[in-house]
Parts: sequence; C-alpha cells; structure tokens
Amino acid sequence: MDTARFYFSLKPPRTPGAWHESPPSLPPDACRCPRSHRLALKLSCAGLILLVLTLIGMSVLYKLSIQKPSIEKCWVLIQENLDKTTDSPAKLECPQDWLSHRDKCFHVSQVSNTWKESLADCGKKGATLLLIQDQEELRFLQDSIKKKYNAFWIGLSYTLPDMNWKWINGSTLNSDVLRITGDTESDTFATISGDKVTSESCVSDNRWICQKELNHETPCNDP
Ligand SMILES: *[C@@H]1O[C@H](CO)[C@@H](O)[C@H](O)[C@H]1NC(C)=O
Repeated sequence: MDTARFYFSLKPPRTPGAWHESPPSLPPDACRCPRSHRLALKLSCAGLILLVLTLIGMSVLYKLSIQKPSIEKCWVLIQENLDKTTDSPAKLECPQDWLSHRDKCFHVSQVSNTWKESLADCGKKGATLLLIQDQEELRFLQDSIKKKYNAFWIGLSYTLPDMNWKWINGSTLNSDVLRITGDTESDTFATISGDKVTSESCVSDNRWICQKELNHETPCNDP
C-alpha cells in the first residue's frame, strides 16, 4: 500500500508536457554520459558494418580466386579433348571395312576389273593402288588375301619407254622388296596373290587393293 501511494504521489508532476520540456532544461553535465555512449555506439556500428563489408569482400575475392583456376582448367580439358578428337581420326583410324597395318589402310575390292579401272576406283576412294613398302608389308598383305585364291592388281607396271618396273608414285622397283614372276613385256602390270607377285596383261580382269597413308592426312584436309 505504501509503494502504491508513493507512485501516485510522484505521478502528477510527470505529465506529458513536463516530460517533454525537461530534457532541454537539464544541465550540460547530464548530457555528457549519453552522448559519449551514443558516439561509442555509432563507432561500434560503423566498425561492425566495416567488418561485415570486409568479410563479404573477402569471400567474393576468395570465390573468384577459386573459380578462376577451375574455369581455366575446364578450358584446358576442353582444348585437350578437341585436340584429341581432331588428331586421332587422321592419325589412327582407317575407314570401315579397310584393313589397318602400321600407318596404312588397305581396301580389298570385291569385284574384278582392268588395271586402269582399278587405278581409277582407288582414286575415287581418295586412295591409290597398293604401293608395297617392304617385305614385312608384303607378308601382311599376302596373309590377308591367302584364303581368297585371287590375284589383286597393285600399283606397279612395266611400261615403255623405261622398260623397268615402276611404282605409280614414279619410283623404280627395288628388287630386294619383291620378285616378279611371269613374262616381262611392255604394258604388263603386277598382281599379288597369297604366295607370289606376277605380271599380267592389261586386258585381264582382276580384283585390286587400294591403300591410304594415315600420316599424310592433315586435319585440315578432312571434309
Ligand atoms: C614409292 O613407293 C615405293 C613402294 O612403297 C617406295 O619404296 C618409294 O619410296 C615411294 N617413292 C616416293 C617418291 O614416295
């Protein structure tokens, strides 16, 4: 009861009007404390904002510094893949249905024709009639055609005026690589079968073998 009475006795002087008027009428000393508090509050607020901003800035920088190298890595990987896909078909792969041996592809025809028609057919395939590089290649090809019991035209002819066996690339035959059986007269062309290389007249019909050299193709020549 006593406290209630005390409250009521104090209340009347604190009218709204009196409350509003009182702060300006306070002595200067009374303001010092709240003002310094306010200043400290402002400073700490500013400090806090600065801290948050620095943290945000640092996290953005950190993310960028992490993402940049990974993006660059991606580009390197993409570039490597592109290099692989543009390099490999030209270097390593023969067309379907072609034999692959070392850096060459070979196509064995299913039909017979004259030597000149065979030459033209290989040209249409973007290839040439077979040029036998060495005995190892000759063995590989003879093994591949052994079961076919056919003779196959190759890019080797005995023609005037040279009276010499010549490859269609212009080089003279090296007799260490292969020996030719049969008649050697002008306008004869060489065929290979499972066990020999024979000369044949230009009017005979034979199957033939085309070749492509993989290393001589550059990616730019690919359609
Ligand atoms: C032509 O082909 C033969 C047989 O493969 C080869 O020995 C010769 O080096 C080739 N010549 C040229 C100029 O490519």
